[in-house]
Amino acid sequence: MYRRLADEDDELSEVQPDAVPPEVREWLASTFTRQLATAKRKSDEKPKFRSVAHAIRAGIFVDRIYRRVTNTALMQFPQDVVRVLKTLDEWSFDVFALHDAAAGQPVKYLGYELLNRYGMIHKFKVPPTILENFLSRIEEGYCKFRNPYHNNLHAADVAQTVHYMLCQTGLMNWLSDLEIFATLVAAVVHDFEHTGTTNNFHVMSGSETALLYNDRAVLENHHISAAFRLMRDEECNILQNLSRDEFREFRTLVIDMVLATDMSFHFQQLKNMRSLLTLAEPTVDKSKAVSLVLHCCDISHPAKRWDLHHRWTMSLLDEFFLQGDKERELGLPFSPLCDRNNTLVAESQIGFIDFIVEPSMGVCADMLECILGPLHSSSKNSTSTAGQERTINEESTGTETVSKFKIKKPWVACLTDNKKIWKEQAAKDAEARAKLEEETNGTSPPTEE
Ligand code: CMP
Ligand code: MG
Ligand code: ZN
Repeated sequence: MYRRLADEDDELSEVQPDAVPPEVREWLASTFTRQLATAKRKSDEKPKFRSVAHAIRAGIFVDRIYRRVTNTALMQFPQDVVRVLKTLDEWSFDVFALHDAAAGQPVKYLGYELLNRYGMIHKFKVPPTILENFLSRIEEGYCKFRNPYHNNLHAADVAQTVHYMLCQTGLMNWLSDLEIFATLVAAVVHDFEHTGTTNNFHVMSGSETALLYNDRAVLENHHISAAFRLMRDEECNILQNLSRDEFREFRTLVIDMVLATDMSFHFQQLKNMRSLLTLAEPTVDKSKAVSLVLHCCDISHPAKRWDLHHRWTMSLLDEFFLQGDKERELGLPFSPLCDRNNTLVAESQIGFIDFIVEPSMGVCADMLECILGPLHSSSKNSTSTAGQERTINEESTGTETVSKFKIKKPWVACLTDNKKIWKEQAAKDAEARAKLEEETNGTSPPTEE
């Protein structure tokens, strides 16, 4: 029997029928909830690290930069790539410019730069040529189906956004090296060999992959499995110098993070985190935290500058419409947003921002402020606060200085701007539709009696 989880119903009931067109509501319901009641996922049994124990790690980013591999045979970066990478730490980093500068290989350069910057090549003794092979093969996998959206650019975009969250909020100081390594690699591989079609399409068309993964998180299972299979090739095995325990922990983390990018877990994931954060002393699990961060980065383009967001949206719709064409050929019903002749683009984007992206970024920010707050107070008393200062706002209230840890939230302004533009677009579209209808009715021959 098809049954939606009760708490997801609560969330969806917030989508008022008059606020959102029915087709957009249907899309939200079918994409962002699990319509089949499934067993609860078993809780993470991984050993937990105490966040306070990492307090002294504040400022370690600078050290890591110094520990970068500087004297081994490093990959050569073209001048243009070096120039674009100067803006790597910005929220609205232009990954399209990186793609052009990197002659179509943004994942190779960005992946390499990030793993080097965080000192991962050094720490986990990743042979530079092996890393280069791995990243090139990952990049090829993203280009396999020539998707307009789910390609190497999207992988690079998500990895860069994850980097923003790690370094600009101070999250990296709460994580162990292995957790940082796993998070960066998870971001890079999170849509590896994406077919340009949705899980729903795999299930409805009975694809080989759906058969293999029993209709559950079909694509996500594939991304992970194919990436780990690639790492079994000695030439691409970036994990070759990890201990057995490190490998197990890394693998568990990557599996958890990438599986959590399945949009059907969205409402449950948000709800769980929200209720955890209401506790007096919340203990946030590392794996859950980085999973939420990756999920948010995966849906973050509506929270970027308009030119970037608009370009992503057009690419995604191209991809959805190509799926719609396939559905028509196969005689399958159109998936939501996939019918090129019948999709309300602006409205769907407003719905996506209002009900998915904005709440996600909100919960993610709350979570980060909650877990990084204690770290900030400890690091303030230590001598090393480098790399943290830029992210902190202190509020002074009268005699006492109350230090309330707040992260920068550049996405808030972008979301407002983008929503405003879509609303104007929606109004124009509605006007055009009304005019067209009027014209059609006006010119149609009178019906015979
Ligand atoms: P994926 O990148 O696998 O995971 C996040 C999903 O969110 C993405 O696939 C799309 O299915 C969906 N998504 C991202 N951006 C938008 C958007 N602007 N409108 C609708 N759906 C989106
Ligand atoms: Mg995905
Ligand atoms: Zn993705």
